[in-house]
Parts: sequence; structure tokens; C-alpha cells
Amino acid sequence: MRTTTPSVFIRGIGSYAPDRILSNNELSTIVETSDEWIFTRSGIRERHVAAPEETCADIAAQAARKAIENAGLQPADIDLVIAATVSSESPVPSVACRVQHALGIPAGTPAFDIAAACSGFVYLLQIASHMMRAGDYKNVLIVAAERLSGTVDWSDRTTCVLFGDGGGAAVLNKCDIPSVGILGNVLGGDGSKGNLLSVRPRPSPPPPPAGGLPTGTHVISMSGKEIFRNAVRVMSQACRSVLEKCGISAEEIALIVPHQANIRIIEAIAGELKLPLDRFKINLERYGNTSAASIPLALDEAWREGRVRHGDLLLLVAFGGGFTWGATLVRWHAPDASATPATA
Ligand code: ACO
Repeated sequence: MRTTTPSVFIRGIGSYAPDRILSNNELSTIVETSDEWIFTRSGIRERHVAAPEETCADIAAQAARKAIENAGLQPADIDLVIAATVSSESPVPSVACRVQHALGIPAGTPAFDIAAACSGFVYLLQIASHMMRAGDYKNVLIVAAERLSGTVDWSDRTTCVLFGDGGGAAVLNKCDIPSVGILGNVLGGDGSKGNLLSVRPRPSPPPPPAGGLPTGTHVISMSGKEIFRNAVRVMSQACRSVLEKCGISAEEIALIVPHQANIRIIEAIAGELKLPLDRFKINLERYGNTSAASIPLALDEAWREGRVRHGDLLLLVAFGGGFTWGATLVRWHAPDASATPATA
């Protein structure tokens, strides 16, 4: 009989973004905006946009396939699939079930989605690690994917310039080495502020967007300034809470991988935590805000850049609609520490 709680660690990661890149300059031919305005206010230069026929589940499956390969496993080894998204074209079948089928993960493997907006990946880590510690799951696939290009109003310059499409995935494993992998988590939610950022059915069918851009049945609306203030306060608090819970100081963190919504939000959090900006992984300039996918996309990129090494302490922190938020502290564990980053 097991007497100690096993550690849960990320054994493999992967990410994917659609081929089409939509630059700020191209966007300025669609709505009244400019590269200068978007970059100064948000830090974003470009974002990836799905092809019209490319679904949220397609994006998720691409990222998931890479994570399984990166873990050195086969789809048949996966025994639980959980996906996070707020931009799937259909709630049922879930993205998780569609990924299971697309990759040939055996029928019978449990699969379900969660909706926690931009905090989706941090929620996934907590849910999956608890299910693994409580149950028999061995190789768990978590995947966050968004196709937000179908959810923005391409005539609303206050939102359409901020979001992008992409996916990121991880395969989680258990091990008996103490104090590696997921060390601690904090999660939160506040439905009283739900109206500040919502994805709701469109009041009327939208006109076809210019430039062959996708469209869908739901649309994002948000109160940018209030979200900004709340995001800085709540993400800073979540970082402090998880550090305190684990008895670790901010200075010990090798890399913070924050939700990639706005460079000014990340700069403000760095100021709150008194950490230099180079301790943060930032890639929003090339992806925009990909909601739940932003953290695993950034983490995968950081790993491939060699910025994540065996033994490093990582802090993942997110804030999103709902409101939802969360922070996860991870001690990176690479059983084969000589493994070299995979090419994209
Ligand atoms: N191009 C040009 N002008 C614009 C654009 C645009 N794309 N969008 C708005 N403007 C105009 C406004 O109309 C306004 O004009 P006015 O002064 O004549 O009324 C002016 O620019 C200033 O607009 P503000 O909304 O005050 O701009 P602000 O500095 O607050 O920046 C922004 C807006 C970028 C949305 C910022 O508030 C923000 O990033 N908030 C966080 C929201 C966020 O990240 N949401 C993502 C989802 S939540 C999450 O992921 C955490």
C-alpha cells in the first residue's frame, strides 16, 4: 500500500499555432487602428488565425500530438484527456473527446472539457493532478486550445486586436520522488464580475468579416480598463499566495510564465513582485491573447529555447473571464535530464 502522496510532473509538452499570421498592419486595413496604438497599449504585433475550416479541436489535436511525442509515448498510452477552452464551435462533442478520436487514444478513455477562460491551463493542472493522486491514472493529457478568431467581432477595434488562436498541451506523470513537479496551486473565481468579460451568443448574425477571417455564433465583449486593474491585483496576490503556501520566496523562481494578455499587465506584476522582467516568459508580441492556450504555448516555447531546466522552479499564473484566476508552482522534473528540446 502506498504511504506517501506521489508527485505529479509534466513529462511532455507541445504547442501549435495556425499558419496564418495577421499583423497589426493588416488589421489596420480591417478596422480603424494602427500598429503603433496596438503595440503601445498591449505589446502585441501579430497573432495567428485559424483557417476557416480549422476547428478548435484541430488546434488542440496538433498541440496534443506534439506533447505525447515529446513525452516519448504513444496515443494508446494516454488514460485520461481533459481539455480547456472557451471558443469551441460545439460544446458537445467536447474538444477532449474529439482529440481522443483524432489521435487514436483508445475509445473508453475518459475525456471531458472545462471552461475557466484564460485560467484554463492552471485549472487543468490542479484538476488532473488531484485525479491522478486519487485514482489510477498514469499518463494524463491536458490540452488548452482556443479559436478566438471565430469569437471576436472583427468590426470592434477594442477587442479584435487583442486575441489570437493557438493550443498548448502537456502529458502528466506520477513519480515517487518528493518535491518535484507540481508543488502547489491556488485557484479562485468571482462570478460577481462576470459581466466584465463575456462570450455570449451574437445578438444578430454578423456580416461576413473582411479578409477571409473566421466568424462564429458567439462574441467576446469586455471592459478593458477594469479587467486590467483586476488582473494585476489578482495575479500578484495569487503569486504571493502560492509562494507562501509552498514556503518559497519570489527570488527563488527561475521563470514566471504568466497569462499573455497585455505586456503592461505583466510589467505591473513584475513591479508588484519586485522581479526583473527578464524573469518572465513573454511571447504575446507574436500570438496576442490566446486565453487558456497562452500559458502552455509560452511554456513550450520557453522549454524549446532552453529556458526551462531540470530542477528549476517555475511559477505559472493566470487571470481570466468568469472571473477566474490561479497560480501553480512547479519544480521542473526531467527524468532524462539529458533530453534536448524538440524542434517545433
Ligand atoms: N485602435 C485605436 N484606438 C483604439 C483602439 C484600437 N484598437 N481601441 C480603443 N481605441 C481608442 C478608444 O476608443 C479610446 O478613444 P477615446 O479616448 O477617443 O475614447 C482610446 O483608444 C483609449 O482607449 P482605452 O480603452 O482607454 O485604452 P486603454 O489604454 O485602456 O487600453 C486595452 C485598452 C488595451 C484593452 C487595455 O485596457 C487592456 O489591455 N485591458 C486588459 C484587457 C485584456 O487584456 N483583456 C483580455 C482578456 S482578459 C484576460 O485575458 C486577462
